[in-house]
Amino acid sequence: MGKLLFLTMLTSSQIKVCVAVAKKIIELFGDKHEIYIPVDKDWEPKVKEMCPEIKCITFQRPSEELQRQFFARTGKKKEDVFAEICEQYNQIWCNFDRAEVVNRMASFYKIIFNHLIKFHPIVNEIVKQVAPDFIVTSFHVSTPLGIDRNIPYAMLLTSSPTFFGHEFLPPPMSDLPSEPTLENIKIWEKFFEEAYLLEHFDMKERINFWLKQRNCPNLDERNFYLVESPYLNISLYPKEIDYNPNLVKLPGKWLKLDSAICNPLPEPIVIPEKLKNLPGKLVYVDFGNQPFIYLYHVKEVLKLLPTLKHRFIVCTGSIDLKDADNIYTEKNIESLSALQVADVVICHGGTKIITDSFHLGVPQIIIPLFGDQIDNGRRIDDKKLGIRLYTSEISHQVIDEAINKSCNPTLMKKLKEISNRIKTENGLKNVCLEICKFLK
Ligand SMILES: *[C@@H]1O[C@H](CO)[C@@H](O)[C@H](O)[C@H]1NC(C)=O
Ligand SMILES: *[C@@H]1O[C@H](CO)[C@@H](O)[C@H](O)[C@H]1NC(C)=O
Repeated sequence: MGKLLFLTMLTSSQIKVCVAVAKKIIELFGDKHEIYIPVDKDWEPKVKEMCPEIKCITFQRPSEELQRQFFARTGKKKEDVFAEICEQYNQIWCNFDRAEVVNRMASFYKIIFNHLIKFHPIVNEIVKQVAPDFIVTSFHVSTPLGIDRNIPYAMLLTSSPTFFGHEFLPPPMSDLPSEPTLENIKIWEKFFEEAYLLEHFDMKERINFWLKQRNCPNLDERNFYLVESPYLNISLYPKEIDYNPNLVKLPGKWLKLDSAICNPLPEPIVIPEKLKNLPGKLVYVDFGNQPFIYLYHVKEVLKLLPTLKHRFIVCTGSIDLKDADNIYTEKNIESLSALQVADVVICHGGTKIITDSFHLGVPQIIIPLFGDQIDNGRRIDDKKLGIRLYTSEISHQVIDEAINKSCNPTLMKKLKEISNRIKTENGLKNVCLEICKFLK
């Protein structure tokens, strides 16, 4: 028997990917191994439902108390603050004000770094308690915890490969064109120097200093984000949108995972009665499980849906939204259930939902907000395998056109082929077998 511990920063994408890997391991090896995933109270029941065999260790999300204090101190409403931030992000990406982008990015990394510092003692305690044989880390800036106790670990990257930081990759979150033409490489380099070398230099020094004190390897020169593993590296990204493997050569071995879906799929959602007899495409709208962050987004998009001659299933999270004849809303929808029946998906472009959509061959309209959603949206649009929109350009006409274009037979055929390839190759099994080699 072996003990396997997954460590995440509690993003939905990371948790769902880890659960899919865990489920597959259980499918392959039964109860041979013990699998642990630390989560907060909100996630515990969801993880239990997805996979009852996983042992959840609950802890309090370090940002919770800070947020509570912030809102108590300022008297501001959470929704308003997030709406404001979203609006700012939208302005930045639309107008592409380089200085603003750089500025924003510095604050984004500051938040991630602060998270890392706050997670560290909590997670460290959990590593001690579980004493695993192997750790799978899916952190943003990863600290391979357990390194000081000689516990081997895998790095599981569940965000865009731009975060590798490579000369033939656009800099992460830059929203720059993604093909490595001479001209683009020049723009990338300029952006990289301004945004990552100059602006972030101090912070990177601080992160490296902090990592060093914990026996962790440094972040290398280009790479701002990850500490790879000398044992096993895994990257989640479908081959068809991956970045030029002949140019982007990473040292060592990287296992590629197209998608993280474990069979059997959840039951497809039953098409709601009110939508059954309406004309138009069936569109699934999902902006993830952090509705506050996407409030502005969701509202902007939703406002338009009643005017369109299509049918919508919308996952609203905890936002109360007005219903309309052609819209069915539900607070929590299992995206895999909805994607099985949808003609098109409108989403934020996070790595989990885009990989799920490719797996199931569903055309995507991506309206990204921040982080690697920007890179994913840009990449998929550049590869002509989906459509990326900016919130501020959204209108009745734009969405209508995007839905029409998504249902173009040539694109649908291509997506079907991709889906068949992914299902046949079964990369998840391969990844699980590699992980289990480290378990006795
Ligand atoms: C993981 O990736 C890093 C960087 O690409 C590489 O140096 C290392 O050798 C890789 N690990 C393995 C086991 O190949
Ligand atoms: C979308 O397709 C429908 C039906 O084919 C058509 O009536 C509508 O004009 C199209 N809209 C756009 C913006 O192309």
